[in-house]
Amino acid sequence: MTAATRLISRLTLVTGGGSGIGRAVCQRLASEGASVVVADISEESANETMVGLQNDLRGQGHMAAVVDVSSKESVKKLVTRIQPPSVCVNAAGITQDHFLLNMEEDHFDRVIQVNLKGSFLITQAVAQALVACGAPKGSIITVGSIVGKVGNLGQVNYAASKAGVEGLTKTAAKELSRFGIRCNCVLPGFISTPMTEKVPEKVIDKMKSLVPLGRMGEPEEVADVCVFLSSDDSRYITGSSIEVTGGLFIG
Ligand SMILES: NC(=O)c1ccc[n+]([C@@H]2O[C@H](COP(=O)([O-])OP(=O)(O)OC[C@H]3O[C@@H](n4cnc5c(N)ncnc54)[C@H](O)[C@@H]3O)[C@@H](O)[C@H]2O)c1
Repeated sequence: MTAATRLISRLTLVTGGGSGIGRAVCQRLASEGASVVVADISEESANETMVGLQNDLRGQGHMAAVVDVSSKESVKKLVTRIQPPSVCVNAAGITQDHFLLNMEEDHFDRVIQVNLKGSFLITQAVAQALVACGAPKGSIITVGSIVGKVGNLGQVNYAASKAGVEGLTKTAAKELSRFGIRCNCVLPGFISTPMTEKVPEKVIDKMKSLVPLGRMGEPEEVADVCVFLSSDDSRYITGSSIEVTGGLFIG
């Protein structure tokens, strides 16, 4: 089998698939032969991703779906609508940056609800569906952040949510390995997406100067690692976190 068909006839689910890293993951999964459910809170952006996906293998079909990952009801509706996906990538995420001294409770709660609770709800629903149907294997990948390890000014809520998904993933890996389900995190550094377009240029320039590889990352560079973790090439890897940072904060 060639490298470009590692995920042939696999059903994959990507949250946050309408933009940035999630969109790049959908594109790479499709190019490896997978069928992709592009799930996002924005129907328009999910559709936009879906229509652009490679779709030339027999049996390959994609769909766009609306989901709010922070809502159990919405997640349940999505997961019961589709076959159990053997690959799931949690890429939905938000930021609401404020310094600790000024952060409102709402800003903290919303970021935790989407980034941490959303990853829990999707991971749980997908794992339950895989176990119930007796699927022999699965791979669940959660996009964390290097910020969860080292902290970041103005992101006390976001850093806490991203540290949380690592603990969640390691625990899920321990509990689900007996069902053949692997769980891993990818920890991006600073990647050019709509999320980082909000960051002031001064801060971006400062960050770039701290990156040993000297530039921001591209969404495709994170997607490549997600596809590796989706495929059998990573069959002996579970409970791990892979940094995709250009060397930022290696110490
Ligand atoms: N861009 C970076 O530098 C960077 C660095 C580290 C980690 N990350 C993480 O990567 C992931 C993707 O980020 P991105 O940079 O591509 O951001 P992005 O804003 O481009 O994409 C995020 C997507 O998530 C969707 N989304 C938001 N809330 C949702 C919800 N409740 N339910 C379903 N979908 C929802 C948005 O509509 C959007 O399409 C996030 O988890 C983010 O925290 C990004």
